[in-house]
This record gives sequence, C-alpha cells and structure tokens, in this order.
Amino acid sequence: MKDLSSYPIGVFDSGLGGLSVWLELVKLMPYEDIIYFADSGNCPYGNRTKSEIIDLSIRNSQFLIDKGAKIIVVACNTATGAAIKELRDTFKIPFVGMEPAVKPAAKETRTKHIGVLATKGTLESELFQETKNAFTKGVTVHMQIGLGLVEIVENQKIEEKSTSDLLQKYLQPMLDNGVDKIVLGCTHYPFLKPVFDRLLPQNVDLINPAPAVAKQTLRQLSKFELRNNEPRTPNYDFYTSGDERLLDDFLRYIKVR
Ligand code: DGL
Repeated sequence: MKDLSSYPIGVFDSGLGGLSVWLELVKLMPYEDIIYFADSGNCPYGNRTKSEIIDLSIRNSQFLIDKGAKIIVVACNTATGAAIKELRDTFKIPFVGMEPAVKPAAKETRTKHIGVLATKGTLESELFQETKNAFTKGVTVHMQIGLGLVEIVENQKIEEKSTSDLLQKYLQPMLDNGVDKIVLGCTHYPFLKPVFDRLLPQNVDLINPAPAVAKQTLRQLSKFELRNNEPRTPNYDFYTSGDERLLDDFLRYIKVR
C-alpha cells in the first residue's frame, strides 16, 4: 500500500473559526503539513438546511482531497452535526469531527447546570441531541444560539462594544441559572475568549473542545499509520472561498503570519 504519511492533514470550516482547531493541531503535531480551507464565501452555515451543509461539506472535502489530504478534520460543529456521516460514506480517507463537549462539562460541573453556546444547526442536530441525552443525566443543560457571533469573528469585530453587549445578552440567562461550565459549541467562539473573560465570573469555566479534537486526530493518524513524525519544517497552506484580505488579516491577528 502507498505510504501517505508525508501527505498533509486537511482542515475545513465554514470560515475562520476552524483556525482554533488548527492552532491545537500545530501544537500537538508540529511536523505535519496542514491545508486549511475557510468557506467564508458561504459562511455562516448555522442557519442553512442540512442538505445544503452536506453539499458544501462534500465540496470542501473534495477540494482538500484534490490537494492531497490524507485525513480531514471537520473543524466546524455545524458541518459535523449535519454531514459527518455522509462524508464518511462518500470518501475513503478518515474524517475527524467536532465533539460537542457536553460530556466533560457534565462530568465536572459542581452546580449541575451547564451552558452550551452554539449555532442553531448544531443545537438541533441529532448528534448533539444524542450526546446530550447520553451524557448529561442529572445535569440541566442551558442552550443558547449564538446568533451573530460567527459574523463578528469573520469580520474581526471582536473588540467592539456591541460584541460585548451581545455576548452579555446570551450569557446572562445561563449565569442566572447557576451554570459553572460553558461549552463553546462553535469553533469561532474561542476567538471571543478575551470578551468572555471580561464578562464571566471566575467560578465559570469555558470548555473549548479543540484540544480534544487534535488528540483524536493524532489517534486516527496513528491508527491508520499516517503519522508524519520526522522533525522538519512543515508547510501550512490557507485557502478561502471568501475575502482573502480578511483571511490574511485574521492570520496576522492570531499571530500565524
Ligand atoms: N465554526 C462553525 C461551527 O463550529 C460556525 C458555523 C456557522 O458558520 O454558522 O459551527
């Protein structure tokens, strides 16, 4: 069989949010080449129909496979919820999806109240509902759609006053209900961390599933003998279906360029 270990990891998201996963992949697997595709031209996915998200996810994956991807990380909760099964059925290479991190949140909560902030698509997906039903017995899950937050990150309006006001509006009902863990159910949201940190009391923890997804990617690469573990300077390529300037500015903002 052909040795594909030197081929790149492919990563896609509806936009720039998946870079929160990219950052963790790079930390954990510093010698792997990675191709990132931001579908910012079609962002947001959150209010699209399941079949639209499946079509876009297949297109994004085909793009990455044509560029040589040996594995694909679906760095988008909404695309994972709508399309991971179809992607695995359509393509031969392994796929890693986002895990809605309600399991660790439910395990660690002391107040027995956890919050989940995500897109409409994610919260309504079967995957999310199944995970919630399986792992949150005895815990109340307070769900909130983060309408508008994806666009704020895409357009780098993170530090604007209106962002803090909107986030406050979404967080207050969870805080009033005594949550002590808030799951970031969308890969764009970790980039709002400075705003969360200003708004949340110290006893409330944010849970970002990206490190766990990076670990799962490593496990899959090892399982399929696809790991590139030779010390070397890796290649990182970034593509967008949207505005290239926004991608470049964002990469500079998160200090990747
Ligand atoms: N980063 C995507 C996610 O994790 C955002 C979805 C959207 O575009 O609405 O769900």
